[in-house]
Amino acid sequence: MQDEFLKLNQEVTDAVAQVTDLEALEKLRVEFLGRKGKMAELMKQMSGLSDEERRVVGVVANQVKGQIEGVFGEVEGRVHKAHEAQRAHEEWVDVTEPSIPPTRFGSLHPVTQVREELEDLFTSMGFLVLDGPELESDYYNFTAVNVPPAHPARDMQDTFYVGGQQNRVMRTHTSSMQVRAMKTHGVPLRMVSPGRCFRNEATDVRHEHTFHQLEGVVIDRGIHFGHLKGVLEAVAKHLYGEDTEVRLRPKFYPFVEPGVNGEVTCFLCKGKGCRLCKKTGWLEVFGAGMIHPNVLKEGGVDSSDYSGFAFGFGLTRLVMLKYGIDDIRHLEAGDLRFLKQF
Ligand code: PHE
Repeated sequence: MQDEFLKLNQEVTDAVAQVTDLEALEKLRVEFLGRKGKMAELMKQMSGLSDEERRVVGVVANQVKGQIEGVFGEVEGRVHKAHEAQRAHEEWVDVTEPSIPPTRFGSLHPVTQVREELEDLFTSMGFLVLDGPELESDYYNFTAVNVPPAHPARDMQDTFYVGGQQNRVMRTHTSSMQVRAMKTHGVPLRMVSPGRCFRNEATDVRHEHTFHQLEGVVIDRGIHFGHLKGVLEAVAKHLYGEDTEVRLRPKFYPFVEPGVNGEVTCFLCKGKGCRLCKKTGWLEVFGAGMIHPNVLKEGGVDSSDYSGFAFGFGLTRLVMLKYGIDDIRHLEAGDLRFLKQF
């Protein structure tokens, strides 16, 4: 009988060694250790033995039973581990894999794109980028920049007068930031200030009540006209390419003296003359000049010690030229068919 138990033990060990899944293992468990299994079968046969024999065989039987249970436990552990490994393999995620780019909802307005590009350029040249109020006092928009109440230049920049204590107006140009910047940052000063401006216009393809400008101011000891031209050239070349030239011609602006109109080589015909530049070869882009002593004075700057230049240009106009947009009103209309093209 002992041998039969040992044989059973061997049989179990061999059978179980082949097992790879828990289901098959459970089947074997029933076959060997179940109530009607092979082990129980052998145990039953022990009743035919003498007491003496039963004692000896009993010891072996118990040992074998223990061993078989041990083997089952072991195999169960092994199969379980294999399962886990398999699952881990199937569910493995590479967290270092590049993510799926987010779907693009909308895009930056073309004016924003050009504005950001210019902010980068000016920042690289050491300029501060300042933000200013769109609803501005009459003082900063006009009086501070040498356009006192009865000045005829006010006619050219009619705007929306909001009134109130400070006589507020929707600012007509970013030049309103000239004196503000001098007062807050003092001198030496190197700043640009882009932003929205407003004028009371009868709108058409070239006129709009809302548009964007970018103002620049540089003040220090010994600043002269050459510095102004240098900066305008840097901007023009950045926008339209290295072979772009800048031409300055006298123009009156109350807040500069001398004042100029800055023109750049037409980027479309390269100066030969075309429809865009009205056959002149030049595009009017900048208003600029040396800051008027009256304006420096308003900003608390001693004009006998410091000098500076200011320039301003229409961001809206740059965008129209850059993309060949023929109607300025597209830019503020919020029409997605237009905006989706950028
Ligand atoms: N503010 C002027 C305009 O709106 C432009 C300008 C700025 C001119 C600075 C000279 C100096 O037309």
